[in-house]
Amino acid sequence: MRQRYSYLSVLALSLTTVFLQAGDLQSPLSPLGDSELDTFVLGRSFFRTPWVEAPSATTARDGLGPLFSANTCISCHPKNGKGRVYSDSGNISRSLVTRLSIDNNKSRDEKIGFAPEPTYGSQLSINGVYGVPYEGKPTREYSYKVVRAGKDRNATLRKPIYGVKDLRYGEMSKDTILSQRVAPALVGLGLLEQISDREILKNEDIDDRDGDGISGKANRVYTPRKSSSKSSNIHSTNHKEEPISHPTREIGRFNWKASASKVKQQVAGAMSNDMGLTSPLYPNENCTHSQKECLSSPKGRDRYDVPMRRLDAVSFYLKHLKVPKTDQDQDYRDGLSLFKQIECVSCHISTFKLESGETIHPFSDLLLHDMGDGLADGRVEFQATGSEFRTPPLWGISIYSDILGGRVNFLHDGRARGVEEAILWHSGEAERSKVNYRELSSDKQKILIDFLERL
Ligand code: HEC
Ligand code: HEC
Repeated sequence: MRQRYSYLSVLALSLTTVFLQAGDLQSPLSPLGDSELDTFVLGRSFFRTPWVEAPSATTARDGLGPLFSANTCISCHPKNGKGRVYSDSGNISRSLVTRLSIDNNKSRDEKIGFAPEPTYGSQLSINGVYGVPYEGKPTREYSYKVVRAGKDRNATLRKPIYGVKDLRYGEMSKDTILSQRVAPALVGLGLLEQISDREILKNEDIDDRDGDGISGKANRVYTPRKSSSKSSNIHSTNHKEEPISHPTREIGRFNWKASASKVKQQVAGAMSNDMGLTSPLYPNENCTHSQKECLSSPKGRDRYDVPMRRLDAVSFYLKHLKVPKTDQDQDYRDGLSLFKQIECVSCHISTFKLESGETIHPFSDLLLHDMGDGLADGRVEFQATGSEFRTPPLWGISIYSDILGGRVNFLHDGRARGVEEAILWHSGEAERSKVNYRELSSDKQKILIDFLERL
């Protein structure tokens, strides 16, 4: 049964264009053909619509939970921008998630790259459907330290101390590692996916052979895939989905520790971890063995809450969003030249050429770097150690800063209250670059910060 969306799509998009300002993260890459536009609009609607508990009259979007963190994607990625640490009311925002693992190599699950906490799983769910207790709530305190920020200037940095409270399923394992993560902005994902493995690996320097203090390592992660063989369809009773084949290892590109290789894998992962939605890539509800209410809670009528074609539509939507472009005027060129001079560009690589011939400016190498003890969260994910993070792309800062009224929280746990604080937290492989920043005159520091805030 093929539904038609063309007319509605065009109407919806023209309305959107009227209401959105020049710089936004939600418009499509132009030009999209008719049927592509249909898919884009369909994907966008699943990205924005609140999902509901099963069973419900609206089976197209039921199956939320049983345990979940939020009921729509945009509640954590507002207008496709970055999430926040605190909501307007001053409480911890739901877009700050708490990832869970234990320090135990023996119980490491090779498909997710770490050992989940035995009772609570891999993420603390702050919500449950009717009759299913939520898992717990995150807490966060700070310790403060004063550091040098410039030639004759200091800054105060806050380091979060993560915690959990109101645990509903008993104590967590003693060796639980908590890692709070703020939702990243969803910028240029389709283009990042198109950077060839070869281009990424060119910058890898695991043992720092060139002796510049910066190594850089690609994460290699398991990627669940749909099987190509129709005959092996073991679940072929009354639905048209195929089972997934054995996962393969691919270069990680997405998330704070590059734990996902493909947009589609991450979309399916988000559906499972953040919203409790099953899909052909993650077919099981995210309940652990000891969560009886979760295991026995009513399920949706269909085998998967999100069938493959909807997963494809959401991925298509995210991959076909327009990427912000900064005017390459004199201020931009001055900022970029400082950015290069103080070696930020060793990791935040400004330019990549895609196989399509297109040139992009993500300001990332998509590699993992050891950022020192101050930033370390102790959490291993596939090849990423407890102090390694993926260089986050910097494109789009100006727009997600607008979306949040300038109150952007930078770094994986949103501890930095602005670009400068983010720089001052850099250490480990990025120590020298940070020291270079501190040594700049205040005029030059301003040029650099303005440059970053305009990206
Ligand atoms: C509860 C909050 C929350 C919800 C709901 C949520 N996300 Fe996320 N999202 C996050 C966080 C946090 C990360 C970073 C995770 C990490 O580093 O481990 C993330 C990462 C991502 C990324 C990777 C971005 C990048 O640049 O690396 C994509 C893509 C994404 N989410 C898509 C989605 C989609 C699609 C949905 C809806 C199905 C969704 N998210 C729902 C919090 C959320
Ligand atoms: C050794 C590699 C490396 C170098 C050199 C480096 N960075 Fe980073 N940068 C990273 C990594 C990795 C993170 C993420 C750390 C985290 O989230 O804990 C990051 C985070 C950031 C962020 C926050 C982005 C966000 O979305 O939260 C900004 C801004 C930034 N860097 C700017 C700079 C500037 C400016 C310089 C030069 C002074 C620089 N970086 C040098 C690797 C590097």
